[in-house]
Order: sequence, then structure tokens, then C-alpha cells
Amino acid sequence: MCGIIGYLGKKNAADEVFCGLQRLEYRGYDSAGAAVLSADGKISVVKKQGRVDNLKPYLKDIAGATGIGHTRWATHGKPSDANAHPHVAGGIALVHNGIIENYAELKSALEACGETFLSETDSEVIAKLLSKNFKGDLICALAETVKVLKGSYALMAICEGNNSIAVAKYRSSVILGYGENEYFCASDEPALAGKCKEICVLDDGDIACITPDGIEIYNGNLQRIIREKKPNTGAEQSLDLGGYPHYMLKELHEIPVAVENTAKAFEGVSAKLKSALNGVDRIILVGCGTAYHAGLAGKRYFEQFARVPAECDTAGEFRYKNPVITERTAVFAVSQSGETADTVEAARLARGLGAKVIAVTNVLNSALTRIADVTVPVSAGPEICVAATKSYIGQITALYLCAVGFAKNGSNGNCAFADGLEAMPKLCKKTLAQVNTYSLANMCALSSGVYFLGRDIDYAVALEGSLKLKEVSYIHSEGYPAGELKHGTLALIDENAVAVALIFDETLAGKTVCAVEQVLSRGGKAAVITNVESVKKALSGRALVLETCACGKFLSPLVSAIAVQKLAYETAVILGRDPDKPRNLAKSVTVE
Ligand code: G6P
Repeated sequence: MCGIIGYLGKKNAADEVFCGLQRLEYRGYDSAGAAVLSADGKISVVKKQGRVDNLKPYLKDIAGATGIGHTRWATHGKPSDANAHPHVAGGIALVHNGIIENYAELKSALEACGETFLSETDSEVIAKLLSKNFKGDLICALAETVKVLKGSYALMAICEGNNSIAVAKYRSSVILGYGENEYFCASDEPALAGKCKEICVLDDGDIACITPDGIEIYNGNLQRIIREKKPNTGAEQSLDLGGYPHYMLKELHEIPVAVENTAKAFEGVSAKLKSALNGVDRIILVGCGTAYHAGLAGKRYFEQFARVPAECDTAGEFRYKNPVITERTAVFAVSQSGETADTVEAARLARGLGAKVIAVTNVLNSALTRIADVTVPVSAGPEICVAATKSYIGQITALYLCAVGFAKNGSNGNCAFADGLEAMPKLCKKTLAQVNTYSLANMCALSSGVYFLGRDIDYAVALEGSLKLKEVSYIHSEGYPAGELKHGTLALIDENAVAVALIFDETLAGKTVCAVEQVLSRGGKAAVITNVESVKKALSGRALVLETCACGKFLSPLVSAIAVQKLAYETAVILGRDPDKPRNLAKSVTVE
């Protein structure tokens, strides 16, 4: 799982590749590398373990106007210089995003022919095969090579003595970019935002050849094909921190605008969504990580507003459980990036089984949107921090509106829930300014584990609070239904543990307060994040009470999520972690 970029033009390719890698770094930061073809046709390669910035000092040593680059999230082989891409074999340098499932057998066959390998990666096998198949034409060698690969790949290769970039794609995205006398190829559209006038999205099985004369696209049999070009409208992602110490904090402060813009953007798709959902009698929501947690809130919205059966699955589980789908099922695939492999494949599966597929995503023109019948935009703007914040709240906003819209069209719907969203941007802003998570963050930083508790919709947010805290602070954390604590997890509670209860539903408040009492009576530390007055009275002086502003329970995730995200951020900072690039993680996981 990685990001790849290619440049062919008149500028310094190393700079262009570096700039692309910075934009792609959210896809992995275990190592980065670049290969550049010099004017005299020689390839020079630099690759370093660690973040893209580590490459900078070495780039001055590689000069040329054609190059490829890679930023890695390690799958096969640990993060190291040797496992970094590009991989070189013969006079060919290659970068790869994806996973080659049959690499072990291909490697054994190559070893039997006397080949030796410098890395533990599946990707080096492709470089060796390319070199073996090369008989003077890189595109022919690539077409031959991909025939034996099983798995997923976006490939870019350059070859000594030949000013071109060869590109192939299967199940991992590749976008081509057309500029003024210069051409790009990249893993995704955001990497090319502002770089060129037109872009073109490759399809599975496509092979492309980029030369100074232009780009030719072929099918697997090397017959020429045409792919539609479209204007490159992507907003250039600003890498400016805007005065904030971290992107995570900056993006937390962008939440009110994300809510407002998502609501505005929904107006543009509501009619199309209405017609797509006509006759639907079952809703399934799928996603991974944070997006899955947004789906859990969405499930409650559909059930409560429209009284329609709704399920929510992680995309990886959904794919392999032989799901029950009819043409009256709508599958909402939720994904910030629109590129997460499991979510994209879950959407493809659902579509194949006859479901209506609705993409809920922050990236238009992503792989997910190309599969979906309708795309509901999450207009959170580019999110750079690996930990999702504003996009999660944008996803919940979008799902809320989808459910309200669906309820309005159905006979069982209860549209009383539809009120209140207009007030939320202001309430989010107020929450950001007022909710004081610092003492709790200190408590969490010293704890052996943090247990987030909630009921119903608060439970959905509790799961996200737990994920956010563990991913940016590395503290063990679990999200639990408040009623389940006593059925096992209570055994983990002692004076070093912290329980954080979310209580935003007055009718359930008393029950969740009981769970907090159980923690306190076992010597654990407890905090509540709440806007319910009676909770404050019941627990003040015994538990830390973090108050947030009043709002209806169904919109409360917008407020409670801000509190748990701020808590995670502050805990990470107290512990000296980098919340923007947590260890071992990547923002978008394009492998299964
Ligand atoms: C990765 C990220 C998570 C994210 C998940 C799904 O695991 O680290 O923050 O929630 O992928 O990403 P998506 O782009 O599909 O929302």
C-alpha cells in the first residue's frame, strides 16, 4: 500500500517527483524513493527508509527530466532502505502499489534461473520479470509481465536509454495528467491537483506509454484504446499548517466548515439519491476504520428516521460473508479517500449482486465513485492528518441527510428528526472552543488503558473515540457498550485504568451513569463527556465532567466526536507523539 508518481517533461523530475510524493505521503511513510532518467539515458536511484522528507538532501544528486517515485507502507518486508522502491533490475527501475499474491512462486521460479534478490518485497519480482521480458520495448515487456501477475498493481517503470514511462494498472488506481509539454502519472487525483489541465483515469488492464510526444493507452493485447480526458478540477491541497502545530488540530478547527459544506453539497444530489433509493427496503453500510464507525451512526439514522432495516459491516467482513443482497438493497460505501481496497471491492461486489451503491466520500472521482450509482459528497476538504477528524464528522453529516431524505420519501418515516442541522456548524465551533479535555488527556496519558463507554448512538462515537486515542497516542483503548462493561472488561479496571463515558441521550443517561459507578467503585478513574444536566449533578466531584453544548441526541455525534478527537490529540501531544503520522499507519489502505 503505497503512493506512486511519475513525471516526464522539461522540468527537474526529481523536484516534481518529490512534490508528488509529499502529496501522496498519506498513503504510507515507511520509506520513499525516486529514480530519474538523465539526458544521456542513465538511471539514478535514491531511496531511504522513513518519511519523504528524508529523500530531500539526496535529490540534488539525480538530474533529469523523467522520473518515477514511491512512498511506501510496508506489506512484504520491513521498512528499510533495501525494501524501499524503486526496485532496479537490468536497466529498468520500477515502482509498485498493490500486492502480488503469487510473488512467492514467481520468485522461486526466478531464483531457480539464478536470479538473486536484494529485497524481501513482492515488487522486486516484477522488476526482475520486466527485465527478463525486455527485448528492446518497455511496453511489450510490461504487457508480457502483467500477464503472470495475480493480485493488484499500479506500476510505473523507466528504462535506460529510452525517454518514456510505462504504466500498468489492475485494482490499484492510476491517474494520468496532461500538462503543457509535460505529463504525469500518479496514484490518485489529489496528487495531480493544480499540476495539469486535464486528467484521465485508467481502467483495470490498461497499459499506458508516456513519451515526450504524448500518452498512448493500450489494452492488455497492446491494442490502442481511448480513455476519456476530463478537466483537472481538484483543489490543490495546501500543505500549509496555517499557524497550527499539527494538521490534526488544524483539521479539527475545519469541522464547522466541513459540516456546512457537506450539507450544502447534499442539496445537489438529493434528487438523484431519492430516485436511486426508490423501492429500497434494506440498507447496508460498509466502510473501514473511522468510516465504518460513521456507518454505525448512519445505521441508527436509517433505522430511527425511516424505520428501515439497516446493517453496518466492516467492508472486509462484508466481502467474505456472502451477503444477502437484492435489487431492493442499497449499500452505502463510506470512505474518506474513496480508495480503500476493501471498501471499493465491497461496493463492486454489492453492485454485482444487484444492489444500488451509494458512495459517501470526500474524494470525487475516486475509485469508489466510479462504481457507485450515486455519490454523496463529504465536503470536508483535503484531510492530511492520517487520523480522520473532519471527514468523520462530514460522513456523519452526509449519512444523517441521506437518512432524513429517505425517511421523507417513505411511509414509515419520522421527519421530526430533520431539524437542527443548520445550527450545528456554530455548535461545533463552540464545542471546539469550550470543551476542556486537557485534564482528561493528562489522566489518559498516565493510564494503563482507556475504556470508552456509550449506549446506542453514543456507543458508535465511543468506538471512534477509542480508535482515535489508540491510533495517535498508542495507549491501549477499547470502546464498549456501557451495558457490556460488567460482562468481562470490568476485570481490567483498577486504579490505573480510565473510563470515559459519552452521555448525550437523556433517556439513557441513568443507565450509563450506573456503568460509571461500577468503574468508580472498583477504584478506576472515570470521566463523562455529556450535555445532560442530571449527569453533571450525579457525578460531579467523583468523576471528571466535560460539558458540551446542548443539541438533539441524533446530532450529538457531531459534538461528542469533537470532544473525543480533541482528547486524542491532546493526549498524543502530551506523550510527544506525532498525531499527523502515527507509527505503522497510512491514511488510505489500498491493499487488502
Ligand atoms: C486507514 C486509516 C483510517 C481510515 C481507514 C479507512 O486505516 O488509517 O483513518 O479510517 O483507512 O479509510 P477511508 O479512506 O476508506 O475512509
